[in-house]
Amino acid sequence: PVTVFSDPQSASLNVAQRIAALIRKKQETNEQAVLGLATGATPVKVYAELVRMHREEGLSFKDVVTFNLDEYYPMQPNAAQSYVTFMNENLFNHIDIDRNNVHIPDGTLSLEAIPEFCLAYERKIGELGGLDIQILGIGRTGHIGFNEPGSAPNSGTRLVTLDDLTRRDAARDFGGKAFVPTKAITMGIGTIFKAREIILMAWNKKKASIIKKAVEGEISSDVPATYLQLSDNVEFILDQDAASQLT
Ligand code: F6R
Repeated sequence: PVTVFSDPQSASLNVAQRIAALIRKKQETNEQAVLGLATGATPVKVYAELVRMHREEGLSFKDVVTFNLDEYYPMQPNAAQSYVTFMNENLFNHIDIDRNNVHIPDGTLSLEAIPEFCLAYERKIGELGGLDIQILGIGRTGHIGFNEPGSAPNSGTRLVTLDDLTRRDAARDFGGKAFVPTKAITMGIGTIFKAREIILMAWNKKKASIIKKAVEGEISSDVPATYLQLSDNVEFILDQDAASQLT
């Protein structure tokens, strides 16, 4: 299903409320909520609202476990552009999460160590009972996580090559495309699919054409987000601008 909100702020509040409700429901039965998280501009207001709920409403993240979708490769965790830094600044530094419960793909591994790391990432998600909810943005290539065009629907966590358009879109953060890593470690489409609930968010006019393809286009690895059409657990949360080309 597709839900359209008037603006990114109201859409983000809705998503944050759903995450908070899940966390509180799990806490009633002393269970851990397992969250799949995304970085980038899209979820920033969701995280800001979760931080506000923590500060003002006592929402606790003590029993929450998180798995981020992806990280650039290679990438030092303390670099300004790392997804570790992003998550710390936008969420983790401001809440009471146990750092042992935070998982982000490791951009410092040797190439040889990556396959085993990726298998372990999948295994850990499984051991915790799977992702309760996975938050997604969408890239202009149609990527979810960093599953670029050509990604298989059953793909797992792995090292991938970033699309040229993705690197151009990241150029501003890195001070030029030449400084954007060419690779990343990402959860696969198959990993994302196993989540019990998937929320893809998109705002602004610049996402309108890829949202049209993702929601209404033919299912194809050319636009990896189209695979979400095959899941019963997906919701597209859009603002009016991102939804503006939908029929
Ligand atoms: C980020 C991720 C990416 C972004 C996508 C949109 O962890 O997995 O798929 O969600 O590139 O990025 P923004 O939100 O910056 O437009």
